[in-house]
Amino acid sequence: MTRPARARINLHALQHNFSRVRQVAPHSNIMAIIKANAYGHGLVRMAQALPAADAFGVACLDEAISLREAGFDQRIVLLEGLFSAEDVGLINGYRLDAVIHHASQLALLEQGRLLRSLDVWVKLDTGMHRLGFDPDSVASVTARLRAIPQLGNIHYMSHFCCADDLDNAATNRQLQVFLGAVAATGGEQTLANSAAILGWPDTHRDWVRPGIMLYGGSPLSGHSAQSLDLQPVMTLGTRLIAVNARRQGDAIGYGEDWTCPVDMRIGVAAIGYGDGYPRHAPSGAPVRVNGKPAALAGRVSMDMICIDLSDHPDAQVGDEVILWGEGLPVDTVAAAAGTISYELLCGVGSRVQFEYHG
Ligand SMILES: Cc1ncc(COP(=O)(O)O)c(C=O)c1O
Repeated sequence: MTRPARARINLHALQHNFSRVRQVAPHSNIMAIIKANAYGHGLVRMAQALPAADAFGVACLDEAISLREAGFDQRIVLLEGLFSAEDVGLINGYRLDAVIHHASQLALLEQGRLLRSLDVWVKLDTGMHRLGFDPDSVASVTARLRAIPQLGNIHYMSHFCCADDLDNAATNRQLQVFLGAVAATGGEQTLANSAAILGWPDTHRDWVRPGIMLYGGSPLSGHSAQSLDLQPVMTLGTRLIAVNARRQGDAIGYGEDWTCPVDMRIGVAAIGYGDGYPRHAPSGAPVRVNGKPAALAGRVSMDMICIDLSDHPDAQVGDEVILWGEGLPVDTVAAAAGTISYELLCGVGSRVQFEYHG
């Protein structure tokens, strides 16, 4: 038997989640965010399954070039723009759009030579204080861009720091700063990530940029994915490779972290942090065995986890274990492990076999 760790990718769920974006932001173009290997789901396969996306957003040239070379003709936006002078030619040659967020990138564009039209997305820092031009500099940045021969359309963007929190005033503050800064430019506007798409309709503007909601993770704290009508795209699963009877007081795994409270059966499942299952998931973290809840017992190893099978008297070697996905939201597992769904999804390793259906 090959190693049973599997990520089943449900393309129907992806399309359902995409249609949720259309439903809640019907007047906006959709830039599907598929950076980081489409949040761990497979860059090209996700792009293929999103033919109605108006654009794809990626983090780097490698991702963009993979898409172009796979034959995608849609607009592709490099969300961190260019990193060096050589990038100007590649971006132009592969017909990519570039975000520019810093004076150093503006200088690279001014020094480079464009052979064909290049659209840019000027990123403004409206309050996140990570990337972006000062909103007061919009007019000067725009004027310098317009002076570059072959420069195409200029769009304007920003990113929210707290849109996941529906009570946080920062989102409206950022929106107002943005609208004030770009009002006179006439360029297309984009601000909304998944949280803003679902929670802040005033932010939708010309383009929305969904990431996590496409993959079925909840972007809004305190709201389950199911309550937002999002479906899990990835179901990470494996199988039991051992089931052993243990005695009360037996310690399980590295560090003797967890001790059997009674005589019990412990299952061993073939998945671990070497596959992207979070090492910090504590004993008690939820898993599912044969479709029913069970709990992690002891530390996560590189290739294995141990599972308390007290409530699974019939479980045996070969039985299915689900780590997250259908029946067990990735957000629930992320919360148990002290992280977010994004990190879990992006972290699924190349050793896991991916199966696409739908
Ligand atoms: C610029 C930008 N837009 C949109 C997104 C999508 O965000 P989310 O996955 O929260 O929808 C990201 C992701 O980090 C991003 O960096």
